[in-house]
Parts: sequence; C-alpha cells; structure tokens
Amino acid sequence: MDKKICIITGSNSGIGKEAAIKIAENGHQVIMACRNLERGKIALEDVKQKSKNSNVKLMIVDMSLQSSIRSFAETFLSEYKKLDILIHNAAHFDIGQKKIVFTDEGIECVWSTNHLGPVLLTELLLEPLKKSSQGRIITVSSKGLALYPFLKINISDPEFKYSRFNVQRAYYHSKLAQVMYTYWMAERLKNTKITANSIRVTNVQIDIKRYSANLSRLLLALYSLKSRFSISPDKMAETYQYLALSDKLDGVSGKYFDSSDKIVKSSKYSYQRQNIENLMKVTMSYLK
Ligand SMILES: NC(=O)c1ccc[n+]([C@@H]2O[C@H](COP(=O)([O-])OP(=O)(O)OC[C@H]3O[C@@H](n4cnc5c(N)ncnc54)[C@H](OP(=O)(O)O)[C@@H]3O)[C@@H](O)[C@H]2O)c1
Repeated sequence: MDKKICIITGSNSGIGKEAAIKIAENGHQVIMACRNLERGKIALEDVKQKSKNSNVKLMIVDMSLQSSIRSFAETFLSEYKKLDILIHNAAHFDIGQKKIVFTDEGIECVWSTNHLGPVLLTELLLEPLKKSSQGRIITVSSKGLALYPFLKINISDPEFKYSRFNVQRAYYHSKLAQVMYTYWMAERLKNTKITANSIRVTNVQIDIKRYSANLSRLLLALYSLKSRFSISPDKMAETYQYLALSDKLDGVSGKYFDSSDKIVKSSKYSYQRQNIENLMKVTMSYLK
C-alpha cells in the first residue's frame, strides 16, 4: 500500500478528529495540527488507540497567526520531504461572540483563521505536495452558505472593520472565500498532480460544552434542538476520508462535495473569474 502523509488542522475535536481516526485506521500517517498542547495530547492518544495506529503525530499550530503557521511549516519541512493530503479543517466560529476580535497580529480572527491561514499554509507546503504521487488539498466549507445565495466577498473590507461585524456573517464570508480559493488553486495547479477540492459540511453535532461559556440560554436551547437534526462528526468524516483517499478522485479537481460524496454547485458568484481574482488579490496582500 502507498502509505500517505496527511495533515489535518483542528483535529483535536469534532469532524477533524474523526477524520484523523479514519485515515490512520487505513494505515496512513496523520499529523494532527492543533493549537493547544493539552487538548492535542489527549486527542492524540485517543486517535492512536481508536485507529490502532501509533504512527500519528501532534504538531502545534495556531491557524490564526501567520508566525505560528510559518514555524509549523518549517518544522514539517525539516522532518518530511513529501505531503500527500492537506485538510484545512480548523475554523474559528465562536457562536457566542458579540464583538469583533483581532489576533495578536492585528487581523480579524475569523478571516485570519478560516481563510488566510489555509492559504498561507498551502503556499508553504506546495513543494512537498508536488512530491506526492497525487497531492490533495481539501478545504472545508458549509452547507449553511446555501442560506446566503447572493453573498459576495467584501473586497474593500474583508475583516468587517468598517461595516457592522456579525460573527455568523464573517464566518459564512470566510467559508465562501475558501470555496472560491479552492477553484483558484485547482486552476493554478491544473498542470500538476495536485488537486484541490472543497467539502460542503452539513449540520454536524458539536460538543456544546466547548462553546457554552459564552452562550445565552436561548442559544443553548437552539443548539440542542439543532443537534437533533444533525449528523455525527464520525458520519461527516466519511466524506473527508473519501476526498483524502479514494482512487476515484485521482485527478478530480476544483469540485465541491456534499456529505453524500456527491459533486454539488456553489453560488453563481463563486465561479466568476473576476470575483475569484479580486478575492485572491486581496488575500495575497495579507500574506507577509
Ligand atoms: N459542525 C457543523 O455543523 C459544521 C457545519 C458547517 C461547517 N463546519 C466546519 O467543519 C469544520 C470542523 O468543525 P467541527 O464541527 O468539527 O467543530 P469543532 O469540533 O469546534 O472543531 C474545530 C476545530 O478547529 C480548531 N481551531 C479553531 N481555531 C483554531 C486555530 N486558530 N488554530 C488551530 N486550530 C483551531 C479547534 O481547536 P480548539 O479545540 O483549540 O478550539 C477544533 O479542533 C470547521 O471548518 C467548521 O467550520 C461545521
């Protein structure tokens, strides 16, 4: 078997952790890229035990900080020559957040973690991805975007510094940016062996204890109701596994997959070349 090396960001909980278990169960090496050492260590032991694969590793990265992403990439490159699968799963979505929050590097946290972080990490890992027999970049978006069919990238103010900040709006904006970025990467990499695809994650149960400190009773009640209509992280991770490992997807690039592994369409706006170019111009202006 071709043993693959796979990085999954934010894999200490939820879907990312279940995906780590599934990919490790298949005998591949998983690198769990997590921001918190304690939470990461606990999850690492669990992933090793459940997958019966000791070849799982924890590496620390805060996806909201470019300095942290650079030092993560440096460590990875010092130890590995190739990378087969890069899954951009980590996301900032603090549902109880009321005000805009900036990282220590001065960038709005949702935009920074959910969009700029994946773009920078991919850039830094392109060389090892090129060395894979079929490198795969996988971004993670949201079915909730369908509720905003006319959403556009806020090119002049992507951090919502000058317009009203709302964490939900900022989140879907970052998820739209990830889908458009995926199409841009697929086009850019079309003459290479690397593919770029995105996953449209549906409603998935979350561990509400992770968020409850900031949540009103009403939001808590709404979330527990929502979880009744949600699938498990384990079920959703099957799509991550499919995109990461299936031979059927060799050479398939620039596609958006739903939780049944079917190719679906994103909004009309997200495919338009000029919109993608505008997004990537403003995105690249952030990378130091
Ligand atoms: N659950 C849903 O209904 C749903 C719907 C649509 C899309 N999604 C997407 O699915 C993906 C996984 O979400 P989930 O449901 O599994 O939620 P989750 O359990 O909250 O997982 C999010 C992960 O991202 C990590 N993370 C957050 N900020 C980070 C940072 N700055 N650096 C590194 N890691 C960071 C978290 O780590 P910590 O433990 O350190 O916080 C956590 O491991 C996300 O991209 C999310 O947007 C989920």
